[in-house]
Amino acid sequence: MQPKAKFRKDYRPVDFTITDIYLDFQLDPQDTLVTSTLTVKRQNSDATQLRLDGHSFEFLSLKLNGEPFSKYQKDDESLTLDLSQFPAEQFQLEIQTRLNPSENTSLQGLYQSGDGLCTQCEAEGFRQITYMLDRPDVLAKYRTKLTACKSKYPYLLANGNRIAQGELEDGRHWVEWEDPFLKPCYLFAVVAGDFDLLQDKFTTMSGRVVDLEIYVDRGNLDRAGWAMESLKRSMKWDEERFGLEYDLDIYMIVAVDFFNMGAMENKGLNIFNSKFVLANPQTATDDDYMGVESVIAHEYFHNWTGNRITCRDWFQLSLKEGLTVFRDQEFTSDLWSRPAKRIEDVRMMRSVQFAEDASPMAHPIRPEKVIEMNNFYTVTVYEKGAEVIRMIHTLLGEEKFQKGMKLYVAEQDGKAATCEDFVSAMERASGVDLQQFRRWYSQSGTPELTIADEYDEKRQTYRLHVSQMTPPTADQVEKVNLHIPLRVALYGENGQKINLQHELLTVSDVLDVIHEHQTFEFHNVPQRPVPALLCDFSAPVRVDYNYSTEQLLTLVKFADNEFVRWDAAQTLYINELRANLSRFQQNQPMQFSEALIEALTLVLEKANTDPELTALTLTLPKETEFAESFKVIDPAGIAAVRDFMQRSIAESLKDRLLVVYNQNRLPEYRVVAEDMAKRALRNVCLSYLAFTDVGNTLVHKHYHQADNMTDTLASLAAATKAQLPCRDQLLADFEQKWHHDGLVMDKWFMLQATRPDENVLEIVQGLLEHRSFNFKNPNRVRSLIGAFASQNPRAFHAIDGSGYRFLVDMLIKLNDTNPQVAARLIEPLIKLSRYDAQRQTLMRRGLERLKGLDHLARDLFEKIEKALQ
Ligand code: PHE
Ligand code: ZN
Repeated sequence: MQPKAKFRKDYRPVDFTITDIYLDFQLDPQDTLVTSTLTVKRQNSDATQLRLDGHSFEFLSLKLNGEPFSKYQKDDESLTLDLSQFPAEQFQLEIQTRLNPSENTSLQGLYQSGDGLCTQCEAEGFRQITYMLDRPDVLAKYRTKLTACKSKYPYLLANGNRIAQGELEDGRHWVEWEDPFLKPCYLFAVVAGDFDLLQDKFTTMSGRVVDLEIYVDRGNLDRAGWAMESLKRSMKWDEERFGLEYDLDIYMIVAVDFFNMGAMENKGLNIFNSKFVLANPQTATDDDYMGVESVIAHEYFHNWTGNRITCRDWFQLSLKEGLTVFRDQEFTSDLWSRPAKRIEDVRMMRSVQFAEDASPMAHPIRPEKVIEMNNFYTVTVYEKGAEVIRMIHTLLGEEKFQKGMKLYVAEQDGKAATCEDFVSAMERASGVDLQQFRRWYSQSGTPELTIADEYDEKRQTYRLHVSQMTPPTADQVEKVNLHIPLRVALYGENGQKINLQHELLTVSDVLDVIHEHQTFEFHNVPQRPVPALLCDFSAPVRVDYNYSTEQLLTLVKFADNEFVRWDAAQTLYINELRANLSRFQQNQPMQFSEALIEALTLVLEKANTDPELTALTLTLPKETEFAESFKVIDPAGIAAVRDFMQRSIAESLKDRLLVVYNQNRLPEYRVVAEDMAKRALRNVCLSYLAFTDVGNTLVHKHYHQADNMTDTLASLAAATKAQLPCRDQLLADFEQKWHHDGLVMDKWFMLQATRPDENVLEIVQGLLEHRSFNFKNPNRVRSLIGAFASQNPRAFHAIDGSGYRFLVDMLIKLNDTNPQVAARLIEPLIKLSRYDAQRQTLMRRGLERLKGLDHLARDLFEKIEKALQ
């Protein structure tokens, strides 16, 4: 049986809705009994059939208004009640099911994580618990009673407020919860287990006191503090910037080790991958700290954008995700550094999202066709979705944007909304016409802006000729013109910023690109300017403008905008890589250009005044970032040239790098912006110095002097990348110290998987048997197998096909245990069209092997079908 696609155009409102749900769980790891009592309300008087979704449980019984009911049909994924003889407006269904959480390796529905039990219902996991109208436009009130062995599961948690509890004589206890807010079933959650609990309180802007609770595995209390601080900062920020206040009396976060994604915003009871909760200086890097804070914020922000206002159907996913990512990005930007956050996000867009647009999985931020919803939690829906919200923000400005938000919340609170509802509110509140802009929701692909310029010295006039074109994508051949906000700046040759004028008026620095070809004219331009184009990445597009090296150096040197300086340096890196890649491919010796050294020398001069941007600019783009500027990717060539660039920079700038390295040593570890910038700078210096003659001594010392994970990991990474003599000893030392801690070992697995060594595949295969590895844990799988396939392109794309064969072997196993994770890991294999014929043939062979599997999950099926088309 082939999985069937669903289409956005086929959306229909329900015939029956469910208004109230009472769930009774008799929890046991092998044998859980669920009784669900649904109040069903007819919406369509002609309807005769009620089809409920459900699978992967044992169905025990069905009653209608208290009487056994047998007029139903059951198949692999649903139960359809025949109500043709039953015209009632409202009735009750009671459904009993039996589950085995300990054998549920899919980590959807009710499953066992460590010694605890928890649920994951988004997108369609609720139907693995009981039969249900499992769709986000069915909003109900939930009451949940949990009963379980008290010694094993002292905490029994569900959404909302605890309303009753008691003890039974057989050693079991029970707790009853009630959630006063309407919600779709994907936001339902329960947790049972034994935890350490961190408690705090937050007083909201209207003076209500909210209990904050973070549940972590026993022994991990010293790693929960940062998450709690992050939560309080998020609550405060959302009040201040968006005027949004928390609505329940309690907010709980539970950290679990087995989780497919980052975290889940279940109403009042977030469940988190422990990776995004646990942090202390010994176990977490600066990046981990930032990751924890932003995911805590993201899930918290969903309380309004996602929970109070949810999605009408899953095609609207970006309504909550794009908007919530935008909100968490703004939160991080307001609290830390706006340019640094922007640079991080743009790197992700340009590498991962642009690659997705060029892949068989290309889709608009609001997809039209879905086979497996889990496959659409993508960088396109999330990050490009956030870019689309950001463009609306750019076009409206903060004040009008916030007016739009207010209107959106006022109109949609308590409802299941669409992307159109959001855009319409923004448009009506601001008076800004978003008609053409709406196309961003329906058009996939990465638009290309081709820009040429012209300076008329006599008239002191400067013109920008801008053309837009979106290349066809796998899902959509015909493309239309978009409304693209193009932010520009003009600089004189000594770096002075030139005012943007038309006639005598100052004009906006955001150009509205709406036609295929457009010319923008600026007056009173005293000299030929250097244009900075797409400042702050004002739209998710590529820009093609033929910069000279001198122009780029001017921007690196003088631009008053950090992003522009960083971006100019990126172009220099890419040009350098391109030039040497063609030399490499023609077997000519590579040459390192003076210009890049000059630029990086300038950058290093700002090491003291701006350590953060210096660190970011000095960081060489990853192989996967370089790859995106090529139609056909040469993974071996890119790796070789990047390696050459790294060594050349290290050799040419050794003395300066060493000075900066020594200047930025910190006396103690603190999670504050100033220190994090210095650590980042010092560690990027180390990453280069590792390739020089002082490398081994320096890295070895760095490792042994480190009093925090950021520095420890930086030295370990430097040792592996530069293949230093001290490498094996440091890796062994780390393993000895941390093998009992999976989260910390993920960093070690990732380093192993991305080693430059010839025999890295053999090493990775050996590590599948490592004492800290566990095939059932998605974090372990991602950090070893996932990192090998997606972060070590040279090895994964080995021309003998060994990398592909290995991934396919792993996917065959994961197809049975955890298809959702399998479908994420397959990504690098479906991008075959980006490689040469020989690799394409090998990749295709791997995909065909998977396609022939007996029980191919729909998650993999959808991607393989598209890739083989
Ligand atoms: N809704 C979650 C988030 O964005 C992501 C998620 C999706 C988690 C599906 C689990 C399953 O934060
Ligand atoms: Zn989200």
